[in-house]
Amino acid sequence: MKIMILNGPNINMLGTREPEIYGSLTLDDIIHDLTEYAKTLGVELVTFQSNVEGEIVTAIQKAKNDCAGIVINPAAYTHTSVAIRDAIAAVGLPCVEVHLSNIHNREEFRKNSLTAPVCIGQIAGFGANSYKLGLKGLFDFIKSA
Ligand code: DQA
Repeated sequence: MKIMILNGPNINMLGTREPEIYGSLTLDDIIHDLTEYAKTLGVELVTFQSNVEGEIVTAIQKAKNDCAGIVINPAAYTHTSVAIRDAIAAVGLPCVEVHLSNIHNREEFRKNSLTAPVCIGQIAGFGANSYKLGLKGLFDFIKSA
């Protein structure tokens, strides 16, 4: 089973970006650890990060060809992107939205997610562990579908 791990804008800055909020691990650290965890589930990861909205839309569309589901951290686009929301709805793949921080206890504008309503669930606030929890939730969902 292949699962896409999709990250949005500024997630490539992890490690140095507001570490008091997002932690000190880099995206490479997180993907490395997640890949090891995925192996224990028998899952192969397809990973992609972009700062460009349209590239994320295209990645979601392409995932339809070979992935069973998507773990997505749309980052700031969570709160603004109708295009990413529509892409998730269009492909019909099960998606889990993840966030390092708890978007619900931060600024007001972060509390609303345009993408969560088209996902099977959302995990926020567990730092890098949000990705593992999201992957496990998605894996179990796909297995039991
Ligand atoms: C984030 C939360 C978003 O509000 C923010 O714009 C990000 C990161 C998180 O993982 O906590 O870039 O998605």
